[in-house]
Amino acid sequence: MALLNNSHSILMVMISFYTFYILFASVLDVSNAVEEASTSGSAGVDGFWPLAPKHVIINNTVQSKQTLNVHCKSSEDDLGLIQIPWNQTWGFKFHVNVLKTTKFRCHFTWGIGESHEFNIFKVARDDDNFGDFPVCKVCIWEVGRDNDKKAMCRINRDASIKPYCFTWDDVK
Ligand SMILES: *[C@@H]1O[C@H](CO)[C@@H](O)[C@H](O)[C@H]1NC(C)=O
Ligand SMILES: *[C@@H]1O[C@H](CO)[C@@H](O)[C@H](O)[C@H]1NC(C)=O
Repeated sequence: MALLNNSHSILMVMISFYTFYILFASVLDVSNAVEEASTSGSAGVDGFWPLAPKHVIINNTVQSKQTLNVHCKSSEDDLGLIQIPWNQTWGFKFHVNVLKTTKFRCHFTWGIGESHEFNIFKVARDDDNFGDFPVCKVCIWEVGRDNDKKAMCRINRDASIKPYCFTWDDVK
């Protein structure tokens, strides 16, 4: 009887974990490799489905060529403080949650006193088929390459498509 109760509670714990996993974003992997998947190829599919796998890649292209310190978080995951040398990339993978509320915000610092924030992944911009920008499965960002009006650019594998550039999401 005790054994039965025990396995029952283990099962309940497993079910709770699984429920948590599908409801909220879970970070699977961090990497510094750029995948050869295309950013535009999967547009039209991912945006409709919850749990779509995403890979955010951050490329340090700051004008001063200094090391970029990056600290990204969602409401569930803290990816820690990462240092990206100039002209190098770092990335992480996750799934969009069922409620489609997944959002990752990053704090970038470099040089003396440069400090900016940006929502590196949000469903409305990066995973909505009816949004203003194509859905990305591999979302590649260049940081600080241009002036502050184009501080963050989501680039396209297909070089004929211009990058989508944004200002920082700094809290004023
Ligand atoms: C980072 O961006 C620069 C400038 O566009 C590019 O030359 C470089 O190849 C990119 N690095 C990676 C690893 O994609
Ligand atoms: C930046 O990195 C890319 C490879 O990712 C390389 O082809 C390019 O030469 C690098 N640029 C500089 C200026 O080192």
